[in-house]
Amino acid sequence: MFRLDGHVALVTGAGQSVGAGTARVLAAQGATVAVNDLVAARAEATVKEIEQAGGQAFAVPFDVLDRDAVLSAAATVRERAGKPIDILVNNAGIHSDMVARQFRELDPKLWRGPIELNIFGSINCVHATLEDMIAAGWGRIIQISSGAGRVGLNIGVAVYGAGKGGIESFIRHISQEVARNGITANSLALGLMNNTANGDQKVTGHLARQVPVGRLGTPEDIGAAVAFLASEEASWITGQTININGGATTS
Ligand SMILES: NC(=O)c1ccc[n+]([C@@H]2O[C@H](COP(=O)([O-])OP(=O)(O)OC[C@H]3O[C@@H](n4cnc5c(N)ncnc54)[C@H](O)[C@@H]3O)[C@@H](O)[C@H]2O)c1
Repeated sequence: MFRLDGHVALVTGAGQSVGAGTARVLAAQGATVAVNDLVAARAEATVKEIEQAGGQAFAVPFDVLDRDAVLSAAATVRERAGKPIDILVNNAGIHSDMVARQFRELDPKLWRGPIELNIFGSINCVHATLEDMIAAGWGRIIQISSGAGRVGLNIGVAVYGAGKGGIESFIRHISQEVARNGITANSLALGLMNNTANGDQKVTGHLARQVPVGRLGTPEDIGAAVAFLASEEASWITGQTININGGATTS
């Protein structure tokens, strides 16, 4: 079950952490993975890991905010993989301008980055891949979101949360528009991952201690959920946002 042989996945922001883990799991399930990142060396490093594990991958460095670059990368993937992208994982979502700060203290210059990356970065990728999925009569769109898009948190992530909430809404609408084309579109609302908690104990330390299952998320936890949503077996799941957070919030 949940094999992805013959499919071509694009994972954005896959040069490290969640995206890299997701790319590794999709490749282990048999997909050919186009590994995107803004930083080419990171994308290449993930490709190397996948190849060393016996999987198929190649790097496609580009900025998801550059619509022309996204379109041209989709064409490059079509050519290199011999078929178009049919699994899109919109993972790039942490903008370099993102700081954890109470909204009243946040410089207005820092408002746009997290919102634009999460909304327009993902919209650009959906735009560049949707027609190919429709032509194939099969596709999977998986949006990596965050609990911050679903619940209010007092940890200084209001504009980031606005970006996540906005893109989750877009994904729900897309799911309805293409449901008869064999395409599903879902979001995963992640809880606290091990890379973030290690990076900023002051902001997230108390949240980390409260995760009911007693540990933080790993990239492979997310990769497993993405592989499931990407699989044939998940074809009746669409338009959903699924919490994946060790029980930190329930629904
Ligand atoms: N880490 C967490 O605790 C956590 C929690 C909830 C949700 N998330 C979500 O998970 C996803 C991955 O988070 P992460 O912690 O692995 O991030 P990260 O910052 O460790 O890695 C993200 C990668 O995306 C790349 N990137 C940034 N901007 C890009 C752009 N414009 N185009 C292409 N690539 C770009 C970066 O170079 C980086 O390699 C994000 O959508 C984030 O919002 C993370």
